[in-house]
Amino acid sequence: MGNSRNKTTYTATSIVNYYTRLNWLQPAEVAILERLRPQLGTMKMLDMGVGGGRTTLYFAPLVEQYVGIDYSPKMIAACQQRFKDSEYPISLEVGDARDMSQFEDNSFDFILFSYNGIDYASHQDRLQILTEVKRLGKPGCYFFFSSHNLQTLEQGLTWKKQLSINPFKIYTNLMALGLFRLFNPSLNRQTVADSDYLIVRDDSHLFRLDTYYIRATQQLKQLSPDFSDFEIYPWKSQERVLDMDAPVMETELWLYYLCQVKSAS
Ligand SMILES: C[S@@+](CC[C@H](N)C(=O)[O-])C[C@H]1O[C@@H](n2cnc3c(N)ncnc32)[C@H](O)[C@@H]1O
Repeated sequence: MGNSRNKTTYTATSIVNYYTRLNWLQPAEVAILERLRPQLGTMKMLDMGVGGGRTTLYFAPLVEQYVGIDYSPKMIAACQQRFKDSEYPISLEVGDARDMSQFEDNSFDFILFSYNGIDYASHQDRLQILTEVKRLGKPGCYFFFSSHNLQTLEQGLTWKKQLSINPFKIYTNLMALGLFRLFNPSLNRQTVADSDYLIVRDDSHLFRLDTYYIRATQQLKQLSPDFSDFEIYPWKSQERVLDMDAPVMETELWLYYLCQVKSAS
């Protein structure tokens, strides 16, 4: 089931070590932490794809109950080691976001899937993850996650956009574009323009991952049956995007989405 290349990558020691060393929050995550801070003390939080515990550092001390899951047993082992002396109760367990049957319906007030973790699932699996989030979230539960922005790929595939006044930058940009084309031979600007979402081998972790890219408008459509009150944040900013046509929507590689689980109708 699912993409075994991605799971293998997230089980590799070098990758696990990379995530275990991370200790900063991304600006959009800071915005949401501050926004929810007054309520966090009464919230049960599920941190999906917790990895090495980057977000555990910040959220576990603030919430009423903190549970982190990851489908990579090595990530969970490393994360448990990192927090073994924690003064806060932290529950970390191996679990797959596509099937979280170990948790009952309506269990959580806040569900996080940070740093694009949801993008390492196939399209069908992504929809299954969203169904699981809806099932586990109480009505009004906040769901906050990030995803790769398909709109940025069109720019990335344009040779002319790689030009710069710095010859070294031109060289590295063109090398990166050449490698990208090598790993994604069937991808061109037209394919991107015609797609709502695509699975791409990008340069993260040296082309070892299949990554889902989606247009923001399509992401909102995917969420709309079960979620409401959407907000979008560029990952590098604490400022919410208010206009879907804002230039940042063309240039920001990752977008964070905040929404809430709808009540059963
Ligand atoms: C990019 S890393 C981010 C790790 C961590 N959340 C952070 O922000 O540093 C993505 C994580 O999601 C996990 N992951 C991907 N797909 C998953 C799934 N279906 N179920 C559980 N974990 C998953 C990977 O093992 C990996 O640890």
